[in-house]
Amino acid sequence: MTGPRPLQPRPGVLGITPYQGGESALEGRRDVIKLSSNEGALGPSPKAVAAFEAASHNLDRYPDGAATALRDAIGGRFGLDPARIVCGAGSDEILALLARAYAGEGDDVLYSEHGFLIYPIAAQAVGAQPVKVPEIDLRADVDGFIARAGNRTRLAYLANPNNPTGSYLSGDQLRRLRAGLPPGLMLVIDSAYAEFVTEEDYDSGAALVDETENTIMTRTFSKIFGLGNLRLGWAYGPAHVIDVVNRLRMPFNVSGAAQAAGIAALADRDHEAAAVAHNTAERGRLSQALTEAGIFVPPSAGNFVLARFPGGAPQAQAADDHLKARGIIVRRLAAYGLPDALRITIGLTPEIDAVAAALAEFMALEGAADG
Ligand SMILES: Cc1ncc(COP(=O)(O)O)c(C=O)c1O
Repeated sequence: MTGPRPLQPRPGVLGITPYQGGESALEGRRDVIKLSSNEGALGPSPKAVAAFEAASHNLDRYPDGAATALRDAIGGRFGLDPARIVCGAGSDEILALLARAYAGEGDDVLYSEHGFLIYPIAAQAVGAQPVKVPEIDLRADVDGFIARAGNRTRLAYLANPNNPTGSYLSGDQLRRLRAGLPPGLMLVIDSAYAEFVTEEDYDSGAALVDETENTIMTRTFSKIFGLGNLRLGWAYGPAHVIDVVNRLRMPFNVSGAAQAAGIAALADRDHEAAAVAHNTAERGRLSQALTEAGIFVPPSAGNFVLARFPGGAPQAQAADDHLKARGIIVRRLAAYGLPDALRITIGLTPEIDAVAAALAEFMALEGAADG
């Protein structure tokens, strides 16, 4: 006779490597420069902070579960139908809900080789198989996605621009991707960094959502709007998909304070424009300084750059140690399949000065050691 079945999670769950956020503290140091999580350099709009503070007087009341005013504000700001918007506790929540809604045991979920690590986690959480599509020169491969999309593929996640590579697919390439994928496959375009992109051939994916029945775009308030701590994201999709997400999400998934801050953040167009201008200028400056120091920096459309070290993984690790010793925290990328690289978030001007100087010093020391 066998005894009662021991308690155990669903198949696949223990195969998940838990997501590790960017580090935020260094032992023994109070003053750190944190460039590890792609949080907006300028922080939130003061108007968003004021709205959050005002919301603190109403903490006992449940929020509007439909986030109606926030969806209206998003729709107004981006020219989208509020009825086809759903809000989430960060876009992470929506990315996970989409896996729950459309994939399950025995299904495949595609994501790009150096794509955001939440995608394989979301797939494994529902018992599906994450399938990595190799990239070409650190860029998502449209034909690779199309070639790997088989009968069992239910979902494809594409970050555009991608974190941590900073590369993006143009609007035309996105369209070609969608056209080549089977109609029964949900294409999730994760445009978390869309507001930072200044390239003219970029398309956040909203138009493709309107043109098709099987594409959804996710967005976040954690990056340009500087509200990562509040956990606020949203998605724009076909009505039938938004209906599905609304059925699965918990009724009060977005707090009232987050909704109020989000509405105020959207209204502060000057702050947003300043954040874009700052990012473009400082990203260019940092890229140039690192390139001059002998580090390879591929073009980035986001609020971060990838620094690839000619000396490979050991040099990237040594560079990270060098930065940490100076109180600067960036992101190691071994988990993203890029052990020779560090990802550096675009911070404030003095922070960029500090990281650029520290890495120039590091590369000079390396050169001296070689020579
Ligand atoms: C590509 C990408 N998507 C989504 C997110 C998560 O954003 P949120 O804070 O809205 O969950 C991030 C955050 O780093 C990201 O880089």
